Amino acid sequence: MYRKWYFLGACLLIVNYVNAQSDQNKYQNGMVVCAYPDAANVGVEILKKGGNAVDAAVAVQFALAVVHPQAGNLGGGGFMVFRSAKGEANTLDFREKAPALATTNMYLDTAGDVIPDMSLATHQASGVPGSVDGMVEAHKKYGKLKWPQLVQPAINLAKNGFKMTARLAADINRVHDTFIKMNPGKGYLVKAEPWKEGDVLIQTDLAKTLQLIRDNGRAGFYAGKTADAIVAEMKTGNGLISKTDLANYHAVWRKAIKSTYKQYAIFTMPPPSSGGIALVQLLKSVEPYPLHRFGHNTDSTVSVMVEAERRVYADRSKYLGDPDFYEVPVDSLLRPAYIKARMNSFSWDAATPSSSIQPGSFAGYESDQTTHYSIVDKEGNAVAITTTLNGTFGSKIFVGGAGFLLNNEMDDFSSKPGVPNMYGLLGGKANAIQPNKRMLSCMTPTIITKDGKLFMVVGTPGGSTIMTSVYQTILNVIEFNMSMQDAVTAKRFHSQWMPDKVDIERGALDAATINKLDQKGYKIVAGGNIGRVDAILKTKDGYQGGADPRGDDTAIGW
Ligand code: DON
Repeated sequence: MYRKWYFLGACLLIVNYVNAQSDQNKYQNGMVVCAYPDAANVGVEILKKGGNAVDAAVAVQFALAVVHPQAGNLGGGGFMVFRSAKGEANTLDFREKAPALATTNMYLDTAGDVIPDMSLATHQASGVPGSVDGMVEAHKKYGKLKWPQLVQPAINLAKNGFKMTARLAADINRVHDTFIKMNPGKGYLVKAEPWKEGDVLIQTDLAKTLQLIRDNGRAGFYAGKTADAIVAEMKTGNGLISKTDLANYHAVWRKAIKSTYKQYAIFTMPPPSSGGIALVQLLKSVEPYPLHRFGHNTDSTVSVMVEAERRVYADRSKYLGDPDFYEVPVDSLLRPAYIKARMNSFSWDAATPSSSIQPGSFAGYESDQTTHYSIVDKEGNAVAITTTLNGTFGSKIFVGGAGFLLNNEMDDFSSKPGVPNMYGLLGGKANAIQPNKRMLSCMTPTIITKDGKLFMVVGTPGGSTIMTSVYQTILNVIEFNMSMQDAVTAKRFHSQWMPDKVDIERGALDAATINKLDQKGYKIVAGGNIGRVDAILKTKDGYQGGADPRGDDTAIGW
């Protein structure tokens, strides 16, 4: 008798499981995956009103500036990779730029040492913001709906308020004292009692700034009242951003990096992000190895992947920077024979010490809280955008009267050769500070196709761990046959040449695997979350979302 009920119960469980799986696949008309539920809703509503993926992206960018102030922004920058349903690929660089008054040694004291935190937590830490111009340009080229319609949902969220998640409340509470210290008298995001889940957050000044952007487009931010407020804010703390810097800021369309991994085509971000080049180098380095046979997060897989990582990050430290200022040897870095040769020193017996690896050389060469969202529309146009203030809440300095946070992206430059930035990344001449130059990034918004058809849209925050998280997510699907959600949820590891260690999320590797790797000389360090990937997979039945459970991330399809 009981046995019969057990059997029936088991059958029901299986049916439910199958339904849940097919639920994930059933969306035919598009999908938005991003860091906060209210912003995902905004994006899907735009799609339902007939907007395309770029329209939805613009609306999500502005909504995230309201509901995800840790990283969503008006005062930061980012990168977009776009691929139309017809196959046109393009990228938009709306990365911040160094102000015209910036100098190479601006963060060094008279002894030539880096002044702690100056590139992170001062008015001088901010680059000239690029996000608003980026959205204007993206909309101008590809948008379908009217601009005001795309900014309005963010205005509504700022003006009428929205309910805070427990995580958002905790994140703001954590920086309460810093907000007060850095923003005397402004009162933004602070109140006497700690915030808690379900509190309604209203941001009146931010709503007014968004209204100016709605009504005046670019001029609503880079001129008039908002520009006045930014420059006045700079004056209170020796900041460098001027009216001219703002007037001169322009996002740039750049040719996508295109490459392949097996039968898949990869479209990703060129410099001034190092992300695309690094991702392609990583994938190409491991392509010859049977990862599928080795298995997910086994010692063999981890050692091959880590060895690729240390070589790729060594290259990054020397060769990558703003292509408008420094000739980045893109073709040489991506040449298959070069990438293959870099792996020649890999041995199954022992880890290659990072100290023995130098950036590669090739003939003819003269000698980093962020947020990602992935969107697909009804036609199959796809957008991958990663955008950031750099650190969580950026410099933690609000523009007085305008209600938005400024970035601390200047820390992504190399303040001094050999001195790591906040993500431990090293750099030299290629990424030295120069007036009007863009600081090097790790952001890796990426679109993948198979047989000419959309396959995956993917990206993540995480500073230096961005490219290794994207790399693992892609391989989790292609090599280890995971669903999009499982690929995003799976525990991650990360290595970046220097320091010479392998960070793993607690539980990413079992004890036996750690032991084997340890014996080969890999220094495994277990710690907290790595990355926060938001991705979409196209299957034969529809769109599958992967929203990272490490955050409030949400996938909504229709
Ligand atoms: O552009 C970069 O590489 C860094 N500013 C990104 C910072 C970041 O991802 C922080 N996220 N957790």
